[in-house]
Amino acid sequence: MCAVLEIRNLHVSVEGNEILRGVDLTVKQGEIHALMGPNGSGKSTLAHALMGHPSYDITDGQIVFKGEDILDLGPDERSRMGLFLAFQYPVAIPGVTVANFLRTAINSRRKIEDSEDKGIPIPEFRKLLKEKMTSLDISHDVAGRYLNDGFSGGEKKRAEILQLATLEPAIAVLDETDSGLDIDALKVVAEGVNRLVGPKLGVLVITHYQRILNYVVPEHVHVMFEGRVVESGGADLAKKLEELGYEWIRNTYS
Ligand SMILES: Nc1ncnc2c1ncn2[C@@H]1O[C@H](COP(=O)(O)OP(=O)(O)OP(=O)(O)O)[C@@H](O)[C@H]1O
Ligand SMILES: [Mg+2]
Repeated sequence: MCAVLEIRNLHVSVEGNEILRGVDLTVKQGEIHALMGPNGSGKSTLAHALMGHPSYDITDGQIVFKGEDILDLGPDERSRMGLFLAFQYPVAIPGVTVANFLRTAINSRRKIEDSEDKGIPIPEFRKLLKEKMTSLDISHDVAGRYLNDGFSGGEKKRAEILQLATLEPAIAVLDETDSGLDIDALKVVAEGVNRLVGPKLGVLVITHYQRILNYVVPEHVHVMFEGRVVESGGADLAKKLEELGYEWIRNTYS
């Protein structure tokens, strides 16, 4: 059965300020969606709320994943169900290597499926990691480095794509909006997504750069403005945005 992430009339407040004001969005396994919108429109807020960040209060609406309302589930449980989130500003974890981090994540998922599971055997894990790194063209020494510690923007994105490839989620939300992200880092993400997409993966790429859409071609494009999805369409919507800019959205929806 196809996994579906359904966001229904989602209202989210941060410290008493309403940021999301009724978001509706559905992403299915096998689909690529882009969520665009000007700075401060609420895109990252949506990503944080999806993962269950405690500072983001859901005041109304639902998040339904695989037919289950996940609002009461913690971030770890959401992740084990097959929801993956890459943050705009990933945290460094000094002392934990990329390989250890990934093995722990895989083992935690296996334990849920079978409580007797002793974890992935190390040789099997090494083989898996090597295969994934080779197929994504990621330098093998990344595995031995501490997660995101001193990583460049591009390296962080490579580590993120490697996590995505290894954990094999059903739906991935990638928050790529970052003024510090150069075009190469953007390409890493786009190429990674292009290599991984298929019937088993649904992706929501969050960005305010139209540029990423030159590399990833989404069938579905949504525009967020002032805490709502105000436009949804196909790739032609991204083209229209490129021509008219966010001025068009501001003039229409302010
Ligand atoms: N933790 C927080 N505390 C206070 N305000 C917040 C917090 N998180 C978000 N906001 C506010 O919510 C609004 C939406 O922010 P958000 O980061 O979701 O925008 P965005 O669409 O991701 O923007 P960008 O394109 O710059 O990444 C902003 O006005 C921001 O200041
Ligand atoms: Mg953001």
